[in-house]
Amino acid sequence: MKKILVAHDGSKASDKAVQTAISLAREFKSPLTVISVIPELYLTELVELDRARILDTLTADAKKTLARVRAKAEGISSLKTLIKYGNPAAEILAAAAGMKATLIVTGSHGRHGAQKFLLGSVSSKIVDHAPCSVLVVK
Ligand SMILES: Nc1ncnc2c1ncn2[C@@H]1O[C@H](COP(=O)(O)OP(=O)(O)O)[C@@H](O)[C@H]1O
Ligand SMILES: [Mg+2]
Repeated sequence: MKKILVAHDGSKASDKAVQTAISLAREFKSPLTVISVIPELYLTELVELDRARILDTLTADAKKTLARVRAKAEGISSLKTLIKYGNPAAEILAAAAGMKATLIVTGSHGRHGAQKFLLGSVSSKIVDHAPCSVLVVK
């Protein structure tokens, strides 16, 4: 039984990745984990209160998204949702290693995709460093 990890960042491309991962999990009766990473806030001039408020908003967004995924994922043998904080690629790779994923599913692009022809920076890091196969959904 394969263990699938799919990465969701709120973008259309990652919606598609989740859709594909759900289909695969159904077909192969695989446990599915959906991960959303809240990126570190590098804006050093932010005061702590603003930082906390922004993190709260981002966390609430991620929770809403994961609840929507959960609603779409009926018929899946096991579904877990994870919210992590930090560097997205590093957190996704660590989660994949931790759960011994046999497949990571990502979108080709994310929320900041300006370069339509190149893989996004997070997905390309995952392809380069993943301990397992990676499916990049286009
Ligand atoms: N913060 C994140 N949390 C979870 N998954 C992410 C995150 N950022 C990116 N991804 C995954 O990587 C894919 C590609 O996004 P990314 O490489 O960030 O592209 P871009 O450079 O266009 O933003 C997304 O579709 C999603 O699957
Ligand atoms: Mg991105």
